[in-house]
Amino acid sequence: MKAHIVVLPGDGIGPEVASSGVAVLRQVAQRFGHAFAFDEHAIGGDAIDRFGDPLPPATREALLACDAVLLGAVGGPKWSDPSASVRPEQGLLAMRKLLGVFANVRPLKLHPRTAALSPLKPERTKDVDLVFVRELTGGIYFGAKTRDADGATDECRYSVAEVERVVRHAFDLARSRKRKLTSVDKANVLETSRLWRSVATRVAADYPDVELEHQLVDSMAMHLLTRPADYDVIVTENMFGDILTDEASVLAGSLGLSPSASVGGPGAGIYEPIHGSAPDIAGQSLANPLGTILSVAMLLRHSLGLQAEAEAVEAAVGQVLTHGNLTRDLGGTATTHAVTRAVIDALQTETEAA
Ligand code: NAD
Ligand code: IPM
Ligand code: MN
Repeated sequence: MKAHIVVLPGDGIGPEVASSGVAVLRQVAQRFGHAFAFDEHAIGGDAIDRFGDPLPPATREALLACDAVLLGAVGGPKWSDPSASVRPEQGLLAMRKLLGVFANVRPLKLHPRTAALSPLKPERTKDVDLVFVRELTGGIYFGAKTRDADGATDECRYSVAEVERVVRHAFDLARSRKRKLTSVDKANVLETSRLWRSVATRVAADYPDVELEHQLVDSMAMHLLTRPADYDVIVTENMFGDILTDEASVLAGSLGLSPSASVGGPGAGIYEPIHGSAPDIAGQSLANPLGTILSVAMLLRHSLGLQAEAEAVEAAVGQVLTHGNLTRDLGGTATTHAVTRAVIDALQTETEAA
């Protein structure tokens, strides 16, 4: 098949991991006979430096005309002055809004070798296999912001329709898995959470085969560490989902392993690791590329409908996690490039054997 993929390297380790993702996609194209065209564009701090805009018009235009987007990461100390008028992260938020990708799917699958690196006891991480569905285009991220001499406000608003579409997305996903959905909110305090809970409860009537439970976000943060294996699909609002997914990534052994897919819009989906630009390790080939490579597998599956190719990439990552020298975050000494090469080699061996 032919596919047109927009690549947004961004800042910090973004370009390093994005180039790993592209290298794996090139290998997939070659092994499976596809024609993927890559179109690189600016976003974030890099785009501010070059164009004075974190999501320049040429990038916007390309996003609206492609099949899928692969993003590295944006942000960094160079652009983090709190009084700056423009910020790299605004480019990412504007892109999510532009593409209308309201459902951010963040799976957490554990591999025994790396789960052993988690600070949790092995009996706690055993059998963990969960997926977060984080609302991505609403809530406090997108509400009105004000600032005056005395203080500042960030408005948090959700419409019924915004809650309903993401909750339905999560119910559909739960239906294809263990039929258990946990909806996370702060309904004991927040009005938006009471709306969230009532919409989730109403929608549940259309999914009698899926068990729905409600959980407050503060105790959820605790349960994620004490009994993570009890969860299957977890749906929550934008900011809670941002925080809980970084916390959950620790169970797998490193933030660098977690992929994501942002979907649900009329056009392209966005695929990116959940981590940021990691300024502390940028430019040293220390970045773990596996979260990005697993995001590439999600891209193949969800935007291009290439199930066998997605499974081949996941199997190749599994091989490397089992036998390979890993990056420093996972206790290894391999460079970003070497781990990427190992995945590509595993992909080649595997598809030759098939
Ligand atoms: P971060 O995720 O960049 O880094 C947190 C820690 O995890 C750091 O110690 C880092 O070295 C480590 N880490 C992250 N990814 C790794 C990888 N692939 N391999 C090995 N180690 C890895 O979070 P931060 O330091 O709080 O944020 C830095 C910048 O990134 C900020 O400007 C923030 O806004 C931005 N950010 C961007 C995205 C995105 O583009 N999607 C996501 C999160 C944060
Ligand atoms: C993420 C990031 C972003 C978010 C930032 C960089 C805007 O932390 O993708 O998880 O909060 O959504
Ligand atoms: Mn985040």
